[in-house]
Amino acid sequence: MSETHRNILVTSALPYANGPIHIGHLVEYIQTDIWVRFQKLHGQTCYYVCADDAHGTPIMLRAQQEGITPEALISRSSRQHKGDFAGFLINFDNYYSTHSPENQAIVEKIYIRLQAQGYVHTKTIEQAYDPEKGIFLPDRFIRGTCPRCKAEDQYGDNCEACGATYSPTELINPVSAISGATPITKESEHFFISLADFEPMLKKWISSGTLQPAVERKLQEWFETGLQSWDISRDAPYFGFEIPEQPGKYFYVWLDAPVGYIASFKNLCDREGIDFDTYWDKDSKAELYHFIGKDIIYFHSLFWPAMLSGSGFRKPSAVFVHGFLTVDGQKMSKSRGTFITASSYLKHLNPEYLRYYFAAKLGSGVDDIDLNLEDFSQRVNADLVGKVVNIASRCAGFISKRFQGRLAPQLHDSELYQAFIGEGDAIAKAYEQREYSHAVREIMALADRANQYIDHHKPWVIAKQEGQEAQLQAICTQGLNLFRVLMGYLQPILPKMTNQVEDFLDAAVVWQPEPLLDSFIHTFKPLMTRLQPQQIEAMLETSKAEQREIEQAATQQPKAAANSAEKSVAPLKPIVDYDTFAQTDLRIAEIIQAELVEGADKLLRLTLNVGEENTCNVFAGIRQAYPDPKVLEGKLTVMVANLAPRKMRFGVSEGMVLAAGPGGENIFLLSPDAGAMPGMQVK
Ligand code: 2FM
Ligand code: ZN
Repeated sequence: MSETHRNILVTSALPYANGPIHIGHLVEYIQTDIWVRFQKLHGQTCYYVCADDAHGTPIMLRAQQEGITPEALISRSSRQHKGDFAGFLINFDNYYSTHSPENQAIVEKIYIRLQAQGYVHTKTIEQAYDPEKGIFLPDRFIRGTCPRCKAEDQYGDNCEACGATYSPTELINPVSAISGATPITKESEHFFISLADFEPMLKKWISSGTLQPAVERKLQEWFETGLQSWDISRDAPYFGFEIPEQPGKYFYVWLDAPVGYIASFKNLCDREGIDFDTYWDKDSKAELYHFIGKDIIYFHSLFWPAMLSGSGFRKPSAVFVHGFLTVDGQKMSKSRGTFITASSYLKHLNPEYLRYYFAAKLGSGVDDIDLNLEDFSQRVNADLVGKVVNIASRCAGFISKRFQGRLAPQLHDSELYQAFIGEGDAIAKAYEQREYSHAVREIMALADRANQYIDHHKPWVIAKQEGQEAQLQAICTQGLNLFRVLMGYLQPILPKMTNQVEDFLDAAVVWQPEPLLDSFIHTFKPLMTRLQPQQIEAMLETSKAEQREIEQAATQQPKAAANSAEKSVAPLKPIVDYDTFAQTDLRIAEIIQAELVEGADKLLRLTLNVGEENTCNVFAGIRQAYPDPKVLEGKLTVMVANLAPRKMRFGVSEGMVLAAGPGGENIFLLSPDAGAMPGMQVK
């Protein structure tokens, strides 16, 4: 395909830093990653950035509940999210956090510019307040009866039964989801952006083909009902960025979240010397695409372009909206085990199975897609193993055994090869338009043709006929070349298998390649094994067990106080002078990983971050007090960092964490106040 060079910046929605990545999220990351890989494969400059969405009340409350700082929570989450994405071969150019200096600086810049242009106004509003917890309640933390359809136990901002959106003050019989108290209404001054000021700009932007037809229709409805001003501030206590010169007022998480796209890109630019303005300047010619789910259209197609245009940045070229994922036709369910987290999937199944299955189902529309577990295994086995890999396995053995791995100097059927190459443009068009299911159909039709070719020429028969060596070598060379063309087309979906194929063929897998002739290949090894139904069963079991653990941890009460005998205070040790005390190097350490130690019923193995990414390994006799070691992950504690390493049966212990209490179940790990960072000296 000939086309001019494009500069493209692509984002996926930023996942919240208080929950695991699950297969519902993965629809979007896989969809985006395939598109980005396709662009890169075609020589475009295409950057893919994302970040953890780290602010807001839910994250603040979750950290409180776990007894850790929000910073510790978001750093744990970031590590887990990055691991999950890497496991699914999601190839971000940068994965950052909205809790970053770049984000704060850009958020402030946008706010100050919006204010200078007169787009920000203040208004005193009445808001639900939890009198027990002493905080204003976000809409999601109020439950009650829908004012429209009267469905019970609905969120404070929208009804899952009838789809109505409303203000929490309209909810019937509201209660605080945090304390169970009946919220009171309290006044507070808030900051607003007048969205209606942007209506002409938004209408023009939308009419330039930026949105899918179904999304455009949704927006027309919103225009008809009238655009409300957007409340962009929240009161302390809040985990976020404080509004400049407004102590106690914070930017609402949804204001700084999309700015995280810019900040993540800025961080990448600073690291790699990319010109930031090429992508974000008001008159930028670069393309900017946001892949999002249909639940966050309002934020991305109204608030976001308004914020950008009001503060002198460019607007998105398009917003690509996808539908939700169902499993076996139903919403993902924790009790059925179909709320499948990325990590429980990866324990049992190859990520490329899911990448392929989603690709085979995804189009450019906003319809939901279904992961039918039976269809999933049938399709992966029939298409990938039974059709694609089969082509290579039917031909490779003959080349290796009969020709010492050497391919023939000529193709057996150039016309067929050219037909395969000829399909490349249509397949490319399908990828470009995010019609992956269409691309996959075309590719599988070619795989059928390649198998028919082999069926027709029967290399296993020719192999037995004398004097037919050249014919055998040419047919198998043809088969392997057709396979290579197909892998070029599948590369955006199956990057790992592509690497294996490159090793096997000892040649690059590219889009529409010249044939590979007269060169040597390596011995064929199975590129993908069949998906066994037991693997799916095991994955569902892991998901259920994971869910049970989460529920148990949530209901775990703080440990009972030590009994009275244990409360007696131990006598003081002899006095030491300051210099003796100062020889002990105490440091703040973050518990990155906490694991049981097999064969040691008193010990936990702790991996500690002691600053600047330095880690060390400590065995601590705290297992009885912390039977579920995972609750320690993300916590900050204090350690003796210069204790002589101690060799134990299970490994070397490189320090000691500090804890109080008599022992057994009554051990209480020390933790510092908020603000302490790993590596800080304790003095
Ligand atoms: O809905 C969500 O999961 C949000 N965390 C998405 C944010 S996307 C962007 F705007 F930051
Ligand atoms: Zn309702």
